[in-house]
Amino acid sequence: FKSGKYGPLVGAIDQGTSSTRFLIFASKTAELITYHQIPVKSVYPYEGWVEQDPKHIFNTVEQCISKVVTNLDTLEIDPSDIKAVGVSNQRETTIVWDKYTGEPLYNAIVWLDNRTEGTVERLTAKTPNKNKEYLKGKCGLPLSTYFSAVKLRWLFEHVPEVTQAVEEERCLFGTVDSWIIWNLTGGKNGGIHVTDVTNASRTMLMNIENLSWDPELCSFLQIPASILPEIRSSSEIYGTIAVGSLEGVPISGALGDQSAAMVGQMCFDFGKAKNTYGTGSFLLYNTGKQIVWSQHGLLTTVAYKLGPNKPTYYALEGSVAVAGACVTWLHNNLGILNSSGDIEKLAQTVSETSGMYFVPAFSGLYAPYWQSDARGIMIGLTHFTTKAHIARATLEAVCFQTKEIIDAMDMDCGVPLKQLQVDGGMTENNLLMQIQADLLGIPVVRSCMPETTALGAAMAAGVADGVNVWSLEPEDLSAIATDIFYPTIVEEEREERYQRWKEAVKRSMGWASV
Ligand code: G3P
Repeated sequence: FKSGKYGPLVGAIDQGTSSTRFLIFASKTAELITYHQIPVKSVYPYEGWVEQDPKHIFNTVEQCISKVVTNLDTLEIDPSDIKAVGVSNQRETTIVWDKYTGEPLYNAIVWLDNRTEGTVERLTAKTPNKNKEYLKGKCGLPLSTYFSAVKLRWLFEHVPEVTQAVEEERCLFGTVDSWIIWNLTGGKNGGIHVTDVTNASRTMLMNIENLSWDPELCSFLQIPASILPEIRSSSEIYGTIAVGSLEGVPISGALGDQSAAMVGQMCFDFGKAKNTYGTGSFLLYNTGKQIVWSQHGLLTTVAYKLGPNKPTYYALEGSVAVAGACVTWLHNNLGILNSSGDIEKLAQTVSETSGMYFVPAFSGLYAPYWQSDARGIMIGLTHFTTKAHIARATLEAVCFQTKEIIDAMDMDCGVPLKQLQVDGGMTENNLLMQIQADLLGIPVVRSCMPETTALGAAMAAGVADGVNVWSLEPEDLSAIATDIFYPTIVEEEREERYQRWKEAVKRSMGWASV
């Protein structure tokens, strides 16, 4: 072994909705040394339901780690150079398990799942003014199918095993970060039950000012505090890995994937924003140490807190439920793409959608509308419409949704965004990037290092006290260059197309309640 070839290394588990990855970064240069990726299976038992097997999720983590350790052997790098591991994860996805057996009590209910529409309606009816925003002043979130506490309520009401486990004090709840950390630190044999502030801020149960589980929120949502993990900062040693080939390595970073991307993109200053195009797309705007309450349908969320004694940074977030998921749908459900990667080629064969718009409101509409009874529509179809127009309209839909979020942010912050930093799997699509710049009218800056989410988790793990192998100086990120896409259409055209899009959105609303 040539130990020390790259200096200290940091591992990052990036557990997303569609796949799990384990990546190794050199802490000195932020260079990606090696990684492994495994797709994650979702099941759709009924319309609107989206579940994943928690054991499958954890298996993919273990398999990725073990493959990466083999890769390091091949590269003649000593795995003991890995000084810390960080976790970034799909947020809100809800898991309950038995602390004595380690067995899940139900499948993970994925963030996209909207079986809880009825639960949301009932909870809203319980508020004094039948107001979805009733809890927003405490947790920053509206009542929606999206967040963990609402999914937990559903589990208590529909799965007797869960209620029984709660009564017998065997039940633990966690988002995916908690589930992974508990299992990696020993599971039923002493696993550590923690979450970080960014993940906790997506449950609806944490008070975002004092960063503690809030008794009033717990009581309104009828969630027993005994099942909740301990809330910690995003960068500190939570425990050490007790299983597999990285035994003894500290886990010292945890962030919801969107917060991790913010850190990975170095959006550390007030007014910096990034958009990550994954299964969904998520635009976060750093509001510094200040909590900004949105008047325009955005969420207030914790951006990061990089150490127990470090300040908390907040963000305004615009969440779009369906981005990459829509391309997967064209491939899996309509069969008009040979692979998801083919969309760019197909969409490029036409220069416009010929008046066709596609609103992919498969899980209702998230920000800025929060309309759970919206459903997907294609409108403006004619004899002339081909699959190429549908492909192009799909890319436009992703971009129009982002534009709606940026408009809301500009209104909330009063300072229009001057450029948008982007990352995530879909950003390798140049056409998408160009359409995005055209529809926004501002430059779109793409990181040439697409793994900014994992990088953020590695940075959080590397800077933690007791690890200290990373410093957050910009020169440490020399590995990250950028591409810039500039707008090429005039304001008049942009505005006209945007108004048509808004008209299409209006028509998608309410369909599930008709
Ligand atoms: O809020 C859900 C989000 O964290 C999922 O991210 O990258 O898996 O689409 P992604």
